[in-house]
Order: sequence, then C-alpha cells, then structure tokens
Amino acid sequence: MSVPVIKTELPGPNAKAIIDRDKAVVSPSYTRGYPLVIERGSGAMVEDVDGNVFLDCAAGIAVNSTGHSHPDVVRAITEQAGKFLHMSGTDFYYEQQVRLAEELAAVVPMKGGARSFFGNSGTEAIEACLKLSRYATGRQNIVAFLGAFHGRSMGSLSLTASKASQRRGFGPFMPGVYHAPYADCYRCPLGFKPDTCAAECLDFIDHQLFVHLVSPDEVAAIVVEPIQGEGGYIVAPDQFLQRLRELTKANGILLVADEVQSGMGRSGRMFAIEFTGVEPDMIAIAKGIASGMPLGVAVARAGLMAWPPGAHASTFGGNPVACAAALATIKLLRERLVANAADVGAHLIGGLRALADKHPLIGDVRGRGLMVGIELVRDRQTKERAVEERDAVVAAAFTRGLLLLGAGKNAIRFSPPLVLTREQADVAVRIFDEALAEVEQRPR
Ligand SMILES: Cc1ncc(COP(=O)(O)O)c(C=O)c1O
Repeated sequence: MSVPVIKTELPGPNAKAIIDRDKAVVSPSYTRGYPLVIERGSGAMVEDVDGNVFLDCAAGIAVNSTGHSHPDVVRAITEQAGKFLHMSGTDFYYEQQVRLAEELAAVVPMKGGARSFFGNSGTEAIEACLKLSRYATGRQNIVAFLGAFHGRSMGSLSLTASKASQRRGFGPFMPGVYHAPYADCYRCPLGFKPDTCAAECLDFIDHQLFVHLVSPDEVAAIVVEPIQGEGGYIVAPDQFLQRLRELTKANGILLVADEVQSGMGRSGRMFAIEFTGVEPDMIAIAKGIASGMPLGVAVARAGLMAWPPGAHASTFGGNPVACAAALATIKLLRERLVANAADVGAHLIGGLRALADKHPLIGDVRGRGLMVGIELVRDRQTKERAVEERDAVVAAAFTRGLLLLGAGKNAIRFSPPLVLTREQADVAVRIFDEALAEVEQRPR
C-alpha cells in the first residue's frame, strides 16, 4: 500500500452494506462527508472494506500522528495490555502515568516544572483547564474567540464558537463566557497585513470587552488556539499571542493554549505556541498524543495545579494502555516526526501554493508543518466563500483516493499523519490539483 488504488465505485458493495446498517442504529449527529469504511491502515495509507486504497491526509481528524498502527505504538499497547488494562490512576498508582507526566513536563514550553491531569479527550482536557482556572484564581469569567472549537461537553461547548449548528438547541450555556474576534489575517476586518500589524484585533478585549462588559479582575482565563483548527486552519500572527500574553499577565488572567489539534508535533514544533516564544499557564492536549488511543491531558505550571484530593478526577483518564501508546508516540515524535512535519509540511505548502497560479478557487494557502489549510473562494477580490465548491473538491479528491476534511465554512485541511513523505505529499498535491480542476469545470 503506497499509492491510492480505487477498484470499485465508491462506496463499494461492502462499504454500502455497513453504511446502511449504521444508518439504522448510530447517532445521526455525526457529520460524515463521504462514505469511507476503513478495514485497515498502515503509515499514511488506508484500505477500505472493498480493497480500495487511499492516501490519508485527514488522519482521523489530526489524530494518527505516527501513522496508522505504527509498529512501535502497537507493540507498546500490546505489551501493556498483557500486563493490566486498567487500575484507575485516580485511586492507585502506576508508573506509566508518572512517566508520561514526566515526559510532558519535559516537552511543554513552561519553565519551572509542570503537572498533568489526565482525561480521555480534548473536551475533557478543556474542562479540566476551565475548572482549574476558576479554582486557582477564584474568578468566574472566561474569554474565548469567535471561530474557536474547544469541544462539545457543556463547559467547553460554551467556549466553542465555530458553527452555530454545534450550539443550536443546547443552550443555555455556562454563564460568564465572552467571545472576542480571532486574528483571521486573510479576512482582517481592520484591513491590516500580518507582517506590519500589532494585533489590533485584540483592542476589542481591552477597549471594549473589559470596558463595557466584564472587569478584567473578574476574568479567570483566556482560552486560545494558537492555530485555529475547526475554524478553518487559521494561523494567528505571533504578535497576537504575544500581546495576549502581555494582556493576561497585566490583569492576573491565566492564558490557556488549546493545542488539542495543533499540538504534538503537527505544526513542525512540539507545540504551535512555541513559534511565538509565549509561555502559557496551561496547555490542553489530546488528539495526536497517543496515536489514536483516547487520551486528553491538561498540563499546568506546577505551582498552579494545587487543588486538593477529590477536586477533579476521571475513572478512565490516563488509562495505562493509552499512556503506553503516548510514551511510544512521544519517543517517535522527538526522534524524527516533529522534524518530518516541518520538512514535509514546508514541501506540501510549497506545492499547494504553486497550484494557486492555475486555480482561481484557491484564495489562501496557510499553515505550519503538517497543519495546512486552503481557503476556497468564488472571487479573489470579494473573497466570497466557495462553500459548495469546497464540499465538491473534498468529494472529488475522495473518488481519486485522497482523504481530506473541510474546516470552517469554506476551507480544506491537510492534516496527514506526521510520517507523510515528500513523495506522498506530491501525490496529494497532484490529486488535489485534479479535484480542483474537475470542480472548476462544472457549470455554476
Ligand atoms: C482545538 C480543539 N480543542 C478541543 C477539541 C475537542 O476534542 P475532542 O473531540 O477529543 O473532545 C477539538 C476537536 O476537534 C479541537 O480541535
């Protein structure tokens, strides 16, 4: 399995049968963009139940960091599974959890030590950050950003402001949450350019929000994605995070970096916030940390995580098998894969930018490492969002054997496993080129 091979119509007969059964019994709230039914995966390749082979640039929503079923990760999981599956780190001790907390303390951009709280998902990591922020500051309010995605449990959903459909029907939300504009430089409402701006979009927080709506001394935390993920793979300029750090420090507010999607090497650094030199007070981690095993971690500056026994815990959080997978994952990331993400990511971005010359649908190509977004527009001047065209390009790529996902209203994300090679990146660019051409040729 090294190049895509499509042998049947899609979905093939076996896939179709499973999808029909799914329709009867599985929650219809899932958003399946195209009918892929996976049988097995290896590296960056995936085979479906009809023997079709795809190049995976979605990685189970940016999760399979070390590729599908990396032998080192599978070995670590199997060895641990043979010893014990669960003991609950909340009530008992096991070394795997301690080792993982030590590893995380070594890799997070926080001087002076760090402590980890273990959950099972991104949303649980965010919930832990929210609770610790309130507990540690004695303040109630939280500021998040428009376009943000922080999860779907009630606390994190209150921060999520990505798509109204994710909130519709679920209110009222957690009180004390305020939203500010994110630094979307492609669509800067102030008309600035990222290389010369001073993150003027943040003026909204100190000139409007803190003046008219909430006193800064009652704000516990500002939660921010260094690269907005579900919102459209939007890279905030460094000065946005740097000014945010100054603003939070000046007001005794905690800065929480949500690196659930941008973390664990995807950006070409272990954490995307490292590009800015900013040290956050907490980092939420999940997705890529354990190559696909469920694990979410809230990492905080050591002195900050000073809550008493019983304050917060999760039965399954920091499960030993997930910890073993995470330890093997971090080893692979440190040895090779963070560097590979930087190298192949730059190559991929170069290839995609070159396509902009011939495809008017491409409005913007942006990203860091292997976290790459392409915003599609109907007109480069007006930047009218090409929403249907985006969905059509993702579908056309699928029929050619390339797995992609949308992000935001009209962007496409490339979030492949970090084992992607330059040759595979070239294949992805070639198929993407063909998919764009097909959609551009269709009558509007
Ligand atoms: C930045 C970010 N935070 C939090 C989450 C929630 O993670 P989970 O789906 O594991 O709860 C996501 C999921 O996409 C995310 O991208």
